[in-house]
Amino acid sequence: MKRLGIMAALPQELGDLIAHMRTVGDVRTVTLGQREYHVGEAHGVRVVVTLARIGKVAAAATASALIHVFEADAIVFTGVAGGVHREVRVGDIVVADALLQHDLDASPLFPRYEVPLLDRARFDADGSLSDALAAAARAFVETEADALAERFAVTAPRVHRGLIVSGDRFIASHDAVSALRDALPDALAVEMEGAALAQVCYEHGVPCAVVRTISDTADAAAPVSFVEFLTALAGAYSSGVLGRFLQARV
Ligand code: ADE
Repeated sequence: MKRLGIMAALPQELGDLIAHMRTVGDVRTVTLGQREYHVGEAHGVRVVVTLARIGKVAAAATASALIHVFEADAIVFTGVAGGVHREVRVGDIVVADALLQHDLDASPLFPRYEVPLLDRARFDADGSLSDALAAAARAFVETEADALAERFAVTAPRVHRGLIVSGDRFIASHDAVSALRDALPDALAVEMEGAALAQVCYEHGVPCAVVRTISDTADAAAPVSFVEFLTALAGAYSSGVLGRFLQARV
């Protein structure tokens, strides 16, 4: 592997990754398009780490730079998401098998959700990266379950695999999340970047994977739950999962 790209939307979603890189070696930081790309090593793996900021355009632009400027030959996205499926609870982890843009609709010219002229709505995550992330996530929740329960009333967190949907919208009402559930019954979680990353990676033949911790259930309580979870636990989850994932790659 040349270099693994690691991206998140917000600083809390990267945990201690950049600080860890600085403690184990030199980190070269390059500013491009108002983003900082940190090039170095993490847990023995050559990485380039960056914050995309929020939304599909931000994610697509960042993924493109990771591939073309920083020569990432695989990309992992880490962060939080809203739970959509009834089985998915705050504190669970979802690893994407596939991703779709829930707000893309060029009908009647093209079927709803289909990316015009690419002939597809769903983009697969890379199987082996996703298996490795899911194994790291399971190891993390098994080891840390009690500590998580103490810090955020997260009980018996679970790891799910399946569809993650993305759109340029923070979903925060019963009606909005019910509409998503009705339209896309297999959607497990909703966020604002993953499917854009997956589309860019598909277009360039670069493997990618997305791991999301559930910060809220995309209903009226979502804004408060999102902020509290982001502040209290998002970093611990990301550090715990990414650390185990990277150590297993060496
Ligand atoms: N990321 C975390 N929670 C979310 C939500 N409810 N909607 C969209 N993106 C999210």
